[in-house]
Amino acid sequence: MYRTHLCGELRTSHTGQTVTLAGWVNRRRDHGGVAFFDLRDRAGLVQVTINPDLPKEVLDQVASVRNEWVLQIEGVVQKRPEGMANTKMETGEVEIIAKNVIVLNASKTPPFMVNTDADLPDENMRLKYRYIDLRRERLTRNMVLRHKVIKFMRDYLDEQGFIEIETPIMFKATPEGARDYLVPSRVYPGQFYALPQSPQQLKQLLMVAGMDKYFQIARCFRDEDLRGDRQPEFTQLDLEMSYVHRDDVLNLVEGLFTKMIPAVAPHKKLYSSPWPKFSYKEVLERFGSDKPDLRFGMELIDLTDVLAKSEFKVFQSALEAGGVIKCIVAPKSAEMSRKELDALTEVAKTFGAKGMPYLAITAEGVKGSAAKFFKEEELAALKEKTGAGVGDLIVFASDARAVVNKTLGGLRLWFRDKLDLADKSMMAFAWVVDFPFFAFNEETQAWESEHHPFTMPKMEDLPKFDTNPGDVYSEAYDMVCNGYETASGSIRIHRRDIQMKMFQMLGLSDEDIQTKFGHMLEAFEYGAPPHGGMAPGIDRLVMLLADEPNIREVIAFPKNQNGRDVMADAPSEVEPKQLKELHIKFS
Ligand code: AMO
Repeated sequence: MYRTHLCGELRTSHTGQTVTLAGWVNRRRDHGGVAFFDLRDRAGLVQVTINPDLPKEVLDQVASVRNEWVLQIEGVVQKRPEGMANTKMETGEVEIIAKNVIVLNASKTPPFMVNTDADLPDENMRLKYRYIDLRRERLTRNMVLRHKVIKFMRDYLDEQGFIEIETPIMFKATPEGARDYLVPSRVYPGQFYALPQSPQQLKQLLMVAGMDKYFQIARCFRDEDLRGDRQPEFTQLDLEMSYVHRDDVLNLVEGLFTKMIPAVAPHKKLYSSPWPKFSYKEVLERFGSDKPDLRFGMELIDLTDVLAKSEFKVFQSALEAGGVIKCIVAPKSAEMSRKELDALTEVAKTFGAKGMPYLAITAEGVKGSAAKFFKEEELAALKEKTGAGVGDLIVFASDARAVVNKTLGGLRLWFRDKLDLADKSMMAFAWVVDFPFFAFNEETQAWESEHHPFTMPKMEDLPKFDTNPGDVYSEAYDMVCNGYETASGSIRIHRRDIQMKMFQMLGLSDEDIQTKFGHMLEAFEYGAPPHGGMAPGIDRLVMLLADEPNIREVIAFPKNQNGRDVMADAPSEVEPKQLKELHIKFS
């Protein structure tokens, strides 16, 4: 037997027991002829004490041991002497007095240390040696948390009558707005499978098949630009139900997460229960984002009425062009330096603003780029409407409504980070509903589906399909948390005629519709039940629960920011023979 216990599980209740442990040397210290090892396994660390009275051959072995060597240790659990307990270690009240030490394997000096998170090495280095980096307590904890999240999901959905069904990875393009990863066929020259961007079509076909209440821990593949919250392959809790309305799906998912958070991350608080529900329009107006962070205030305030007669040219011209004037009030920011404000103006410009007028309310009066344009009564009305007082900075945006919302929404998050306004222990879940059905793409001058093309429009809006598509709303919903979109879903189209109309609106030719989606349209002719579902993104949720800044930290073997696996060096070139078999030639 390699071991009787795990290092991290030993407590004073084990005192006096002889145990055998196996693990890595996390840190070695020598002190007055006594060697101390912190031995590490997945469960944590424990201190091993090697006294000089051990046999010489054991002491000789011990002399060569360095960090990350793999040891087997037999010893007796002992309570540490009074005053020697280490409160930072879960096993800090005990130590193991070694009787024997066996070196199971040596280790080269690792490229970086995993016994501290201070001075993390370059991320590519961490990813190249991911198998070492994962030994880090923080990453081990993330993997365990991820396991707990997935296990909770499985158990909860099982209790609710769901069944887990696997759907193919080699399939046909299932669009979610990104490019596809293709798999060439050896048997059918010139033909390709596509990896699913989500199991969307397959889960709908499962509803047609009567597999009501399906779920899957589903791997999805999307060839799109990477960000901190995006990976080319990621995992969803994909689910679908038949004979449901929107709120049936929302209640199920809200119930799941409301129960899960205290079970898997008891240090996290829920913002509210039940979760707030906003329309898409409302979140844009109030938070300037369709994925609002509700952990702090600083909502956008509309000043279009208050400043309708402003003599400030910037405001006037925005209003004349049919735009709006809005602001946010940043606390404790009236004393921001000119340099900082200039830098912030540049930030505002990245969101489309032309400038960033502001007013600083100080004990000596109102200062700032826009101050001289404000009449006394306008200032009074402004203070009344915003509640701003001494110490506050009022930041304005005046432009087309969409630009104003985007700018102030972006600046709101900038202040969140600068002033540390968001409570890190909070999970502020909310629903966003009533999305527009179509979005007009100015570049291609064509209508695109705002969600995916299988989303049901609101039935009462169907007549507007041909006349004013911009006014059609959908049965789609998003779950947001702390400024991230953590899930999205919808009630689906289950009627062939509506699905056909949708594809036509998106500009697909009849031939395209047939070759790409003929199987869906045909399925809808065989008694497709009304259905709907959603898909929470597991990586993003675990990232939030683990307080990690990006999803790579909660994925065992992620791609780097350029989409490469730097450990195995993929993608990589393949043998000419393989290419030939796949009928692939580079020109
Ligand atoms: P959607 O495309 O919105 O919807 O994806 C659902 C959720 O998956 C997560 N997500 C990602 N996570 C990491 N990396 C990515 N590249 C990535 N892309 C998406 C997000 C997102 O909210 N089939 C629909 C769901 C449905 O309608 O049931 C879908 O895939 O958390």
